[in-house]
Amino acid sequence: MAPLPRHLLPDTAVVGGDGRLSVGGVDVLDLVAEHGTPLFVYDEEHLRRRCREAVGAFGEGVAYASKAFLCKAMAALAHEEGMAVDVSTGGELHVALAAGVPAERLVMHGNNKSEEELAGAVEAGVGRIVVDSFDEIDRLERLAPTPPASVLVRVTPGVEAHTHEYVMTGQEDTKFGFSIASGAATAAVERLVASRAADLVGVHAHIGSQVFLLHSFVKEVEALAGFFTRYDLPELCVGGGLGVAYVEGEETPSIERWAATILDACRSNGIAESTRITAEPGRAIVAAAALTLYRVGTVKELPGIRTYVAVDGGMSDNPRPVLYGSGYEAFLPRATTAARPLVATVVGKHCESGDVVVRDACLPADLAVGDVLATPVTGAYGHSMASNYNKVPRPPVLFVRDGEARVVVRRETLDDLVRLDA
Ligand code: LLP
Repeated sequence: MAPLPRHLLPDTAVVGGDGRLSVGGVDVLDLVAEHGTPLFVYDEEHLRRRCREAVGAFGEGVAYASKAFLCKAMAALAHEEGMAVDVSTGGELHVALAAGVPAERLVMHGNNKSEEELAGAVEAGVGRIVVDSFDEIDRLERLAPTPPASVLVRVTPGVEAHTHEYVMTGQEDTKFGFSIASGAATAAVERLVASRAADLVGVHAHIGSQVFLLHSFVKEVEALAGFFTRYDLPELCVGGGLGVAYVEGEETPSIERWAATILDACRSNGIAESTRITAEPGRAIVAAAALTLYRVGTVKELPGIRTYVAVDGGMSDNPRPVLYGSGYEAFLPRATTAARPLVATVVGKHCESGDVVVRDACLPADLAVGDVLATPVTGAYGHSMASNYNKVPRPPVLFVRDGEARVVVRRETLDDLVRLDA
């Protein structure tokens, strides 16, 4: 019944006297009139503030995890605001370099980096390579970079973060990194220290994503400290994973509190003051900066069952509800603060029943075909995991700021859909 909670909207969102929503000084319905739907709109000021907050809290080593949302404009923005950029494939590396991010500000991840990807990273001169397996050490030695590549060793702390199983990564049963408990991490450090291909500068761990409990990060640091302090290494990266609020009733700690908790835990677990403690938030930087705008195409009332509201996107622009059962809110930007007594399931236009955007969404009672419907907090892992399923062209991305909108990713065209066909 209640209106959309304000804290789920981007920082610069303003609701006019008529209930219409503006972001970055731009009326979002005007954006729809010009650019169509579906449409991703990012509040550029919100993005910049979160980057600055991360740099203020952790220092210049903190990296933006670009898998959350990447295009040239986003990589350039994170770099301008002082963040390093974490890339986890040759593709992400390519986009970050194309955006003009200096290679030394890049951190190269990946649990199965190919020889080409590693060579590309070495050749570009990336600042850090996060080594994930013994096979990767073999590949690095075959490449024999000179000077040796600066590397972090990724370890699994054996901590189960409180989150969805698919995005939990710190537990023992994982494809990522070297286990501390089994001795693999020690063996990896020994190999890297002895290797002429690598200059080991630190340890990396990542316990998972969409983690709400700061205590999970304290447990991570406790689990890492004994291992880390055995070696005299200058750098410890605790990964990303800070959760964000998606729906009514959820609250999350700020990046600043997350950082303070981690830094305190490092100090109280004997990690030297001089250690460079870094992190790589993705979701916490971009998720709440964006909303997705759709057009309502059909409203189907099934008596005694439910009402389906179908929009012109769906699992191709936001696969998270299907993949993880993730919840979102929905609202009408023509009546942003309206009560939402209508319970309806918002679905997409794809040819399967699982194509749900918001299950049991609360919406204004006067919702009608032709309305623009918005889902907030879609800035992370939406556009970045978008697909062309059913040959639906991917939506464009706009950045809005100070009354201006700029297209940072254009809408895919029908021609784009056959561009790769032989
Ligand atoms: N560092 C590493 C090594 C990672 O694997 C990840 C995310 C991050 C940092 C950033 O995590 P964040 O701060 O964004 O939570 N597709 C899923 C999330 C997958 C996260 C993968 N790794 C989702 O939509 O929830």
